[in-house]
Amino acid sequence: MCSKVNFALLALAFAGIVANCQAATLDQRILGGEDVASGQFTFVASVRLDSAHVCGGSIIGARQILTAAHCVVDDNNQVVAADRVSARIGSLNQFASGKIIYAESIAVQPNYTYISNDVAVIQLSSAVEESSKISIIPIATSADQAPAVGTAISVAGWGEQSSGAAPYKLQSVAFSVASEEECTKGFPEHDESTFCLAHNLKEGSCLGDAGNGVAYNNRLVGVASFVVGACGSRYAEVFVNVTHFAEWIQTQL
Ligand SMILES: *[C@@H]1O[C@H](CO)[C@@H](O)[C@H](O)[C@H]1NC(C)=O
Ligand SMILES: *[C@@H]1O[C@H](CO)[C@@H](O)[C@H](O)[C@H]1NC(C)=O
Repeated sequence: MCSKVNFALLALAFAGIVANCQAATLDQRILGGEDVASGQFTFVASVRLDSAHVCGGSIIGARQILTAAHCVVDDNNQVVAADRVSARIGSLNQFASGKIIYAESIAVQPNYTYISNDVAVIQLSSAVEESSKISIIPIATSADQAPAVGTAISVAGWGEQSSGAAPYKLQSVAFSVASEEECTKGFPEHDESTFCLAHNLKEGSCLGDAGNGVAYNNRLVGVASFVVGACGSRYAEVFVNVTHFAEWIQTQL
């Protein structure tokens, strides 16, 4: 599957370009983010592979983190061993504080391929305890819980910034829900399993931001999947439509 432009997956470890497309450059980084204040985005987790941040994730159950499938699948399309994966929760700092909980198992959406059905549930080895810094966010289960086109939504993550270095502190950046037309412009294969968020030029997600959760009205509606072209391009970014996968996700809860 290849579009007129390239897609760039956003996980740090397996950052790759979708098959049969020429390598896109990822020399542009996320821009325009701002520090998240304590008590905000408390459902956010740093998903770690071999003890280093690789992707974002959302706490959707006492023992479950929702992330992008490509964050936990290696170059040979194998799900990585669960004992290599952990999540840091309850901290704005990806390197310190909060709590680290190891994965017990990982369930990748059975129909996942490259950029399709890019969603996975990490089962944790112990339950999270909710606090002022940790919360469980319910997933959106019906389309009427989704934000309308044009709605402003901030998404938080630890993806790379303009400096090329990953921030230690959680950053959030403002998006708005893109129209079908705008989404299809960059991603012609777009269907209801994904939706797009538009952003200002040179802002948005970059490497390390895959798996970031999109919350609306205290429900999780999206999971960051990939950018079209390079980070900060003029194209809207593609997110997994959580509602579309709600039934499968619920089987994991
Ligand atoms: C996988 O895709 C098939 C064909 O579209 C569909 O019938 C099936 O329900 C999907 N499986 C899951 C677990 O989503
Ligand atoms: C998300 O999925 C739901 C359920 O399949 C669907 O009704 C809705 O239209 C989808 N949203 C988008 C933006 O495609």
